[in-house]
Amino acid sequence: MRGKDKLVKKYKFLPHGDSRGMLVAIEENKDIPFDIKRIYYIYNTKENIARGFHAHRCLKQILICVHGSCKIVLDDGFNRETVVLNDPGEGLYIENDIWREMYDFSSDAVLLVLASELYSEADYIRNYDDFKKMILEKYHE
Ligand code: TYD
Repeated sequence: MRGKDKLVKKYKFLPHGDSRGMLVAIEENKDIPFDIKRIYYIYNTKENIARGFHAHRCLKQILICVHGSCKIVLDDGFNRETVVLNDPGEGLYIENDIWREMYDFSSDAVLLVLASELYSEADYIRNYDDFKKMILEKYHE
């Protein structure tokens, strides 16, 4: 239930490590809970930059900081939590209808995103007040 559900959902990936180093493989609907339709990555992020500031109506995502570190704020309209991502062996699951903000990127950070849908501007909610209104309408008890 919205507001009572766990906000921070992390997936631990199986690391195939040996004397040569590490390898992580991710398969859709096996290691993560959706079909992967799109991937993108954020890198070369400048100091003191914050990104995101939106929610998605349908899109589900897994965020993996494959190098360096960054912080993610998650907000489900009832609760707000900050998560540090600094482990290439784990992915942060962000479902639809979750507001997110990304900041404190280390200069070497590479944030890989696995997404359940193709890019669609219509899927974005970019105004926080609109987001809150939608949440209250959709998830009121
Ligand atoms: P933007 O939504 O501002 O990124 P963030 O959520 O990190 O703040 O996206 C930056 C630009 O990249 C914007 O012009 C839209 C474009 N873009 C795509 O073309 N495809 C994509 O899959 C994404 C995520 C963004």
